[in-house]
Amino acid sequence: MAITTLFSELPVEFIGSFPDPRHPLEPPLAELIFLGRSNVGKSSLINALAGRRIAKTSGTPGKTQYLNAFRFPGFYLIDLPGYGYAKLGRAERTRLRKLVDDVIKTRNRRGAVVWLLDIRHPPSDDDLTMADLLAEAGRETIIVLTKGDKLSQAQRHAAAKARADDLGLDPDDLLLTSSAKGFGIAELAEHLDETARDPNLGRGTG
Ligand code: GTP
Ligand code: MG
Repeated sequence: MAITTLFSELPVEFIGSFPDPRHPLEPPLAELIFLGRSNVGKSSLINALAGRRIAKTSGTPGKTQYLNAFRFPGFYLIDLPGYGYAKLGRAERTRLRKLVDDVIKTRNRRGAVVWLLDIRHPPSDDDLTMADLLAEAGRETIIVLTKGDKLSQAQRHAAAKARADDLGLDPDDLLLTSSAKGFGIAELAEHLDETARDPNLGRGTG
């Protein structure tokens, strides 16, 4: 569904799809990098934020294959392949995992990671490994719960609290969204816009 957000009125350009995690983007701008398990809803969330279909989505996990960059005025949104999709062959799984790990470890510090978790499920082992990697790399991280529409309102609040407990965080630290129904998206766009424009982004850490 088309949602009005801070980003939906802005021009956007697909820059390209890059197998190299270090691929420099020109001009260098703040980067908001979307990370999460395969099928968690990264590409759908980018489309919801943009208010139009710019990223490819699929009901089959493993849709996004490379680092896909979208340029907005003043910042990039970066869509990544998901991690943890068991059905891929070992070589492909290893390639995707290395791409994602290298993005977190080596990419442009002037950025933040938008880390997605499905509100319905406790973090997987892969999610917990990723949490460690983000902390080790000192990455500024914005945590988003996806697919909120799959639960009733009462279940949603309980699940958000459970996910916060899983992560040792306060429920207020997690942004609850639904790309399908549009809730939480305009608020997330505002938060991302503020983050991208923060002159100290990426300077406090690492
Ligand atoms: P990979 O590129 O494979 O890593 O997946 P992804 O994280 O980009 O997921 P994608 O956006 O392609 O969405 C995966 C599936 O979840 C699709 O069938 C989407 O329609 C569905 N989906 C994504 N977000 C939501 C949501 O907020 N609500 C519901 N109900 N379904 C969603
Ligand atoms: Mg995707």
